[in-house]
This record gives sequence, C-alpha cells and structure tokens, in this order.
Amino acid sequence: MRQANNKQFFCTFALCIARVMRDKSVRHACTRMFTNEIHDFMAKIILTGDRPTGKLHLGHFVGSLSRRVELQNSGLYDKIFIMIADAQALTDNADNPDKVRENIIEVALDYLSCGIDPTKSTIFVQSYVTELTELAFYYMNLVTVQRLQRNPTVKAEIQMRGFADNNGDEENQQRKGTPVGFFTYPISQASDITAFRATTVPVGEDQEPMIEQTREIVHKFNSVYGETLVEPEIMLPTNAACLRLPGTDGKAKMSKSLGNCIYLSDTAEDVKKKVMSMYTDPDHLKITDPGKVEGNTVFTYLDAFSRPEHFAKYCPDYENLEAMKEHYRRGGLGDVKCKKLLIAVLEEMLEPIRERRKHYEQHIEEVYEILRRGSEEARKAAAETLHDVRNAMRINYFEDKELIARQAAEYRK
Ligand code: TRP
Repeated sequence: MRQANNKQFFCTFALCIARVMRDKSVRHACTRMFTNEIHDFMAKIILTGDRPTGKLHLGHFVGSLSRRVELQNSGLYDKIFIMIADAQALTDNADNPDKVRENIIEVALDYLSCGIDPTKSTIFVQSYVTELTELAFYYMNLVTVQRLQRNPTVKAEIQMRGFADNNGDEENQQRKGTPVGFFTYPISQASDITAFRATTVPVGEDQEPMIEQTREIVHKFNSVYGETLVEPEIMLPTNAACLRLPGTDGKAKMSKSLGNCIYLSDTAEDVKKKVMSMYTDPDHLKITDPGKVEGNTVFTYLDAFSRPEHFAKYCPDYENLEAMKEHYRRGGLGDVKCKKLLIAVLEEMLEPIRERRKHYEQHIEEVYEILRRGSEEARKAAAETLHDVRNAMRINYFEDKELIARQAAEYRK
C-alpha cells in the first residue's frame, strides 16, 4: 500500500513537472518514463454506445447489452458512459431525422429494461454533447482521406448503403455518393471515445477498425501536441456463440431490414411465433430423420442462451444440450420439442426485461430526464478534455496571459 502511494505520488509529481515544462520533448520523455505507473493509476473508464435507428434485439443483447450490465455491476470500473449515438445515426439518415428522433426513447427503454442502471452508468445523447463535434473538427486534420478510405467497416458500409458511385446495374445506378459526414464518422467516433478518456470500449468485431483508427488519432495527437489523450483498448465479446447471433431465418445476422429479429420488446406471443417458424435443418423432414445441428438456428440459439439447469427445469429428458444434440443428430427428436425448450429459455430471460420495460413505459418523462441529466454530466467530462485539447493545441489565446503580454510588449516597442 505504502509503495503504491509512493509510486502514485512520484507519478503525479512527475506529471506536474512535465506539465509545467513548456518543452515538448522533455514532457514526452517524462510521460514515457512513467507510462506503466500512469497506467496503473489511471481511472478505468468505459465508453460505448448504439445508433438509435431501431429497437434493440437479441443480437444486441448477447453481443453487448448483457455484457454492459455485467461490467456495470462488476465494480471494476470508475466510470461507465453509454451513449445514444444520434449524431452518428444522422450521418446516413440525414433525410430521415424522425427515424432517429423516435428511436432515442426506444433505445433508452431497452437499456433501462436490460438492467443498465442510471445511478451506476451515465446514459447520454451524443448530439447534446456539442464538445464532441469540436473535437472531431480538430482530429480531422490528423487523418488522411486515404486512411479513411482504407477503413474496412466504412468501405463495407458504403457498399451496403448504396453510396458507392457505381452501385447497382445500368438501370438502377444510384449515383448518390457518400455523405462527407458518413465518410468521416470514424473520426467522430474517436472524439466520442477520447472525450471521456475511455480506457475500455466494449463493442462488436465490426467496430475494431474504429478503435484502431482512434488509437492512431491518439498517437498522432499526442506526438504532435504533447501527451494529452488516453489510448483506448477494445473489449470484444468473449463467448464465441455470442459473437454474432444469426437471424431467425438462419441468415448471418439479425437485421431489421431482413425482418428476422427477436426484439427485447416483443411480447411472449411474438417470441413464440418467431421461434416456431425458425429455420432449422431443411433436410430434417420426419422426426425419425437424422438432423443437422450445425447451421441449425434453434441450436445456435440454445448454444447462446441455454444453461444446464434449464434442462432439469424445462426438458428433463436430456441432461444437457450435448445430450439433446446427440439425439437430434441420431434421429428421433423433432424440431418442436427443441423449439419449445428454446421458447422457455428465452422467456425466462425476456420476462424480467419486459416487466422493467413496462414500468419505464409508464414513466417516459422520467426516462427523458435520465437522458438529460446524463447528457449534462457527459458534457462536463467532455468539456474538461476539450479544454486540455485546446491548451495542447495552443488555441487558448484568451487564457494565455503570457502570449498577450509578450505580443503587447513587442508591439508597444
Ligand atoms: N458505431 C457504433 C455502432 O454502430 C456506435 C458508436 C458511436 C460507438 N460512437 C461510439 C460505439 C463510440 C463505441 C464507442 O454501433
């Protein structure tokens, strides 16, 4: 303990000296010398978020929401920021602001009903933290067009959204082009992350290029203007079954446009219907036929959601999922029995979420108040970083008495 205190003291002391020192190289050397110590004592801060373009579904739940609740309740983090990325959603929905507007509350309700607790996590709306746009404007000078063009997620999304210049066949050519705001959203995402000095960003694999780009911006900023920004780490989902949950039709991904989602806000009746019509093994026609488990959506979901205790409770014929799969492969086990188990497993999970949602749905004003307060708090944090950034970039003219005094003396001569 004593040693830790000494270290901490030493580190703070060194940083103070470094800060006082005007010389960039000395400041850099100091910071480099104490990198490990700084890391040990640095606050652990999480930032993550979602674009409000629709209700959240089971894919979001396994991929990120349940993890956030765990992280929130782990007590291992000093601060957790969860952002509703409305400004980012507008980068490819500029002509549909109502879609974004209507979905803010949906995403907030989904967060709260999953157990994100506003007394432990700060939930906020991106566009209300205007400091973020200013940061992005400065970071833009540190990133090249060519680097953005190489960002694999942006590349794929440009194709997917039909923004590419030569998209589609001759007749359907949609020469829409790519909105500049959309093209540069990785830079805005770097602002989201660095504004809160986030050390940890829990996101899906598709966000890896964004975190990489953020780290590059941090490096570049710190090397040009002096040690100011914190380099974040990505935190990927750990459970392989949860990396990407397929849609109910067996397609690679749950997506609203494919109509293959189970929403967290679905009623028990919806869930039952969706599971009952789920894609299984198309060659498993008769119960006695041997069946395939791989690529069978019902089993993929059971992999992701079922636990051994579910079998004793809902399907005591099998000791565990392995035993059930074994029987299915051998033949003699029908889809309906597996689907009924899946419904029971999903309901056990979804029912408490639905109950909490019902409560918040009766208190919409209160939910907006949570977002407003969260956004205010987020603004304070981002403003502190912006202040440091402006100092580091030497665009703090009015606060810089020395600058003013020096120039005044020079011109009075
Ligand atoms: N791009 C993320 C998504 O599409 C949302 C997002 C915006 C985000 N800013 C972020 C995620 C910062 C993590 C950190 O889901």
